[in-house]
Order: sequence, then structure tokens, then C-alpha cells
Amino acid sequence: LIGLYGNELGLNVYVVGGFVRDLLLAINSKSNGTKSIPYDIDVVVEGDGLLFGKYVAKQLRAKYIEHPKFHTCSIFYRNGENKIIRIDIATARTEYYEEAGELPKVELSTIKKDLYRRDFSINAMAIKLNSGSFGILMDFFNCKKDLEEGRIRILYPLSFIEDPTRILRAIRFEQRFGFEIEPNTLTKLEEAVEKGYLEKVTGMRIREELEKILEEPEPMKAVKRMGKLKIIFHLFEKTYYSPTLEKDLEKLFDVKNYFKNNLPNYLNKVRVFHLVLDVLLQYTPEESLKKISERYGLPKDFIKNLKQVKNVYSEISKDLNNKEKILNLSYYYEKTNGFQNEQLIFLAVKLPEELLEKYYEYLRKIEKLKLSITGKDLLKKGYEGAQIKAKLEEIKKKLLNGEIQPGEEKNLI
Ligand code: CTP
Repeated sequence: LIGLYGNELGLNVYVVGGFVRDLLLAINSKSNGTKSIPYDIDVVVEGDGLLFGKYVAKQLRAKYIEHPKFHTCSIFYRNGENKIIRIDIATARTEYYEEAGELPKVELSTIKKDLYRRDFSINAMAIKLNSGSFGILMDFFNCKKDLEEGRIRILYPLSFIEDPTRILRAIRFEQRFGFEIEPNTLTKLEEAVEKGYLEKVTGMRIREELEKILEEPEPMKAVKRMGKLKIIFHLFEKTYYSPTLEKDLEKLFDVKNYFKNNLPNYLNKVRVFHLVLDVLLQYTPEESLKKISERYGLPKDFIKNLKQVKNVYSEISKDLNNKEKILNLSYYYEKTNGFQNEQLIFLAVKLPEELLEKYYEYLRKIEKLKLSITGKDLLKKGYEGAQIKAKLEEIKKKLLNGEIQPGEEKNLI
């Protein structure tokens, strides 16, 4: 339909970028089309994209949103399967070529120019949508071959300099598809990292890219690659990616998986980005932490919470020989009372393997723990103020340790 509307307005219309890439991957994949085709579609128009967008939205009776600053618009359309399809429409960069005094201006193939400006060859193909030439693949730069052979390749030398977030995108696509960044691209990427181009990007844009990496099925692969390529160091000052950090990060993903399967409530309101930064920044000096926290918009208590877990962890390390103490569930209550979920998960990463089962047992138990008496009952019995709190805590610990059974609380007051 979009192509038909293009014809009606006399404009060339193409679907471009990730949609084309994923379509070709799905066609080529042995899974026989089980790979789902995305519902976000990028369309490029040779001509006025906004005018075209308005026209399409009207014809489809779809929601239309304009982003005048970027000269793009979005259409939200509900398809037959009741799924919302988002169509982003952009105007192809129109380049005029001055021919020495002859014809005033000659328009170059604008779709070609548009594609050339894109990040990687695998994302730089277009499919024409106009009726009459519907379905023609526009592949000006050997892109399809790169896609088939698993190569991430930039199209022009300044690609990473012009948009350093592409450094992170290269890693994300490489790991997602099991592709390889080709040697020249890798050299350019390393140069851009080395020369500090990542530092020039706003924290928010970097954060968005990092969060996308963390949403991938196997983020650890990308994290390792970023560590090796010194990207981590350039994103987080005075943060040195070491084998110890790598082990902790690996453990974090295992631990997170455990929580997901066994203690899912503890993942409420937890952001993977914050968890990863807890681990990654645990040895980063305080001065740098402040700058990092500001740059990436971390919660105001991030540094304080991180320190708290580190302190608790070092206290626990000192108690390791005191088996009697550390095998009581109440011990973990004392150490972590008041912790946020994120802190509880980070502590699981730091705890030695032999304590982990106990700790998980504690988390399971405290989650369900409900006293059969309240402060009011204590008040009636003559307890007051701080005494009430202390007594309730005492009862809670006894329940955790199995010294009393649920229902026996009243015998203690
Ligand atoms: N693009 C680019 N440079 C960037 C970001 C995007 O050239 N820094 C281009 C690419 O052609 C990309 C398209 O814009 O294919 C759309 O970008 P985006 O929606 O971010 O990514 P997708 O390629 O659709 O990938 P994903 O599957 O992760 O959504």
C-alpha cells in the first residue's frame, strides 16, 4: 500500500535499514521463516517525507506524529492481526550536483546517498515499494554479500567519528548475529576509541546503546568484547576491565537467571543496567564514580548503595570462619535489612559459593515471612517505642532461624 501511495504522489519510496537486513536474514535462515519479521519499519522517500507521511496516515486512518527537528515522522498502524506497526518515514538526503553552468542542478540518486551515510553495510540496503517496481533490492555497496558472509563493515572511513555510538552498535550486531567486524572497520573502530570519540557523546546516548546491548540474549559476549577493545575503560573512567571483573560479570548473569527462575519478586524495579554498573564500578575510585553517575544519570543513592554492599561483603568475609554465625538465617537479616533489591542481587554476586545456598534460603524465607502479631499487640502488653521495634525484630530472627514456628510468636511477649 505504501508503494501505491508513493505512486499516487509521484515519489519513490523504499523500506530500508534493519527491516531489510532482518527480512533477508529470515529468508536465508534455515528456520524457514520462524524468525519473526520486525514490526518497526523504516521508510525513506525521495521527496518530501513529511508530506508523504501525512498522506499515508490519512489513507490508512493511522496515528501520525511529526518530528520536525529531524524532518521525519512516524505512523502507528494497527494491522489485521491487531499488532501495532510503527512506520518511521524520513526524507532521503537530497544532494544536488552543480554541473558547470549547464543544467542548473542534477539530482544524484538520493537513495544511494542516503544508504551510504548509514552505519554498516548490513544496514544499508533498501527495497523499493512503488507498485511496478515493488520488491527490487537496492544494494549499491555489496551489502548482501556481507550479510551472507557475516561481516560488519562501515561504508565510509569517518563513520565512527561522525557517530561514535556506532562503535557500540558494531559490537551489538557482531554478537547478535555471530558476525565479525572486518579488519579495516575494526582498525577504524579502535582508532576512534583510542582518540576519545566515545567521550564526546552524551551519557544518555551511550546509555541507550548499552541498554540495548544488555537486552540481547547473550550480553556477556558483547561485554567481553567491549572490555578487550578498551571500550569499557573509555566509557567509565578509571575502570579497568580485569579477569576478576569479568568473572563477577559472568556470575551476575547466572545469579540474575537464578533470581528470574526462583526468586522473581526480587527483580521488581531492578534495572539490568544498574546491576551491571554495580559490578563494573565496584573498584572505581569515588571521584570518578561521581562523574560517571552524573554522566549516565544513575540514581542519586547509587554510590551509597554500592558502598553499603561492599562494606557488608567485607564484614561477611571476616565472619567466614564463624560457621555457627553464618549458617543462621538471621545473620543475613542483620546484614541486609533495608537493602534494595538491586543491592540484594549484587551481594549474591559477591558472596562466596558456599554461602550462596544459605543466602537464597534466607531470601526465600524472608519474602514469605509474616508475623502473627503486630506492634499493636505489643503496645497492649505494655511495650513502648523502641522496645516494640526491637521485640518484633527479635521475633522475626527467631522465626528465620526456626527457633519458633509461625503462630508461636505470641508466646514470646
Ligand atoms: N542507523 C545509522 N547509524 C546509527 C543508527 C542507525 O546509520 N547510529 C541506521 C541504520 O541503517 C539502521 C537504521 O538507521 O538500520 C535504523 O536504526 P535502528 O532502528 O536503531 O536499528 P535497526 O538496524 O533497526 O536495529 P534493531 O534490530 O536493533 O532495531
